[in-house]
Amino acid sequence: MIRFATGVLLLSFLAISVVASCSRDLIGDVLRLPSEASRFFRSGGVSEDNDAVGTRWAVLIAGSNGYWNYRHQADVCHAYQLLRKGGLKDENIIVFMYDDVAYDEENPRPGIIINSPHGEDVYNGVPKDYTGDDVTVDNFFAVVLGNKTAVKGGSGKVVDSGPNDHIFIFYSDHGGPGVLGIADDLLEVLKKKHAAGTYKSLVFYLEACESGSIFEGLLPEGLNIYATTASNAEESSWGTYCPGEYPSPPPEYETCLGDLYSVSWMEDSDVHNLRTESLHQQYQLVKTRTANENSIYGSHVMQYGDVQLSKNNLFLYLGTNPANDNFTFVDENSLRPRTKAVNQRDADLVHFWVKFRKAPEGSPRKIKAQKEFVEAMSHRMHIDDSVKLIGKLLVGIEKAPELLNAVRPAGLPLVDDWDCLKTLVRTFETHCGSLSQYGMKHMRSFANICNAGIRNEKMAEASAQACVNVPRSRWSSLQKGFSA
Ligand SMILES: *[C@@H]1O[C@H](CO)[C@@H](O)[C@H](O)[C@H]1NC(C)=O
Ligand SMILES: *[C@@H]1O[C@H](CO)[C@@H](O)[C@H](O)[C@H]1NC(C)=O
Repeated sequence: MIRFATGVLLLSFLAISVVASCSRDLIGDVLRLPSEASRFFRSGGVSEDNDAVGTRWAVLIAGSNGYWNYRHQADVCHAYQLLRKGGLKDENIIVFMYDDVAYDEENPRPGIIINSPHGEDVYNGVPKDYTGDDVTVDNFFAVVLGNKTAVKGGSGKVVDSGPNDHIFIFYSDHGGPGVLGIADDLLEVLKKKHAAGTYKSLVFYLEACESGSIFEGLLPEGLNIYATTASNAEESSWGTYCPGEYPSPPPEYETCLGDLYSVSWMEDSDVHNLRTESLHQQYQLVKTRTANENSIYGSHVMQYGDVQLSKNNLFLYLGTNPANDNFTFVDENSLRPRTKAVNQRDADLVHFWVKFRKAPEGSPRKIKAQKEFVEAMSHRMHIDDSVKLIGKLLVGIEKAPELLNAVRPAGLPLVDDWDCLKTLVRTFETHCGSLSQYGMKHMRSFANICNAGIRNEKMAEASAQACVNVPRSRWSSLQKGFSA
């Protein structure tokens, strides 16, 4: 009897909520096929997350290349597998990765990529939408905007979304203050997408050093965008499952297998019924795991934009794996023990060093690894010294440290004039060689130089004095292109 009453209540509730959320459909389209009707009812009121007619879209980007950056492509491949198990279709998942890792001669398991020490292959089946030179910021923007004509190369797949759709973007790279093809451009793209009315809500997960600087003071509320980042605007994010750390990759791997923030959200999503877990719950969990018990091997996960969206269930963006239906999210069951981790910026050195240490004495492999290690180290010193010297040339010995190291208060963007930042970075790289992944950390110094109102002509003069000759290694900007 009680059960019957509940049933009636539920039915009338259903009827109300269907009318409420779909009234527009009812006016123009009263007659429905039985199949449509059942879809209509199933999704209209029962599911608490209001997933009425929308499609789930995902854009996954690994921004780096090189075997020593194995972890970024591993992160992205893992995300793809997760979304597929969650029920997303290939036609709605767009993948950017250089695709130079799976078959790199350094990969101990050719054609296989793993994202954790005992993890299964995550590479199999990953669509190669944009690989190699087609991994560009312009293509990423065109894909998000759904602009097929603006895409160059690749599969041409874009986010062809409608007003009821949900979009998930996951980006894994090393970054540096304000990078990601420079933050203000990204914000323009997101605003354009919002103005086009082609999504209901958008979630952006971002793994990179100083990733917070991309949204800090920039991402407004009201765009229906919720973003979380691996770190705040002024710190490194961390690689994990690195050689020599615990847990470490299988012995034959001389590289980190994943990144701490990325692995945290994915390993959580892998095992739960995502209808029972909200974005906010995941944020809390990932924040705790990534802080790594507030050790130095951790960073501060941040959230930006329309934070109230985080009450939505992950299901709305990631789907859910039916095999996890009985695994309700519970806070305590989800944390992993603390791990050691490797500063993202040092992951390349770790690779060269482990390679060097393990190679047989006197072998060509050992000599090559030593050369790579020394080259990377001396490039770092060259970049650090050049930036310091330029600071002194610009404002004098005493004021230079403040100019270069100042951090703006929270809520203020990294720089007021983004074009200035881009110009200064290019000027620097023309004279001093590529910043490269490590040198991205100086992006804040360049931003400070802009904020101090120093003109590009002065910067060019100082750079020319500081860097008498352009280094002729593979780190030269002439070979690698500009960083901004
Ligand atoms: C798509 O990109 C092309 C080429 O960049 C541009 O001319 C066009 O205006 C864009 N279309 C839309 C709808 O933004
Ligand atoms: C969940 O539990 C129910 C009841 O024990 C069982 O019938 C069902 O097969 C389980 N589902 C999965 C996916 O394991």
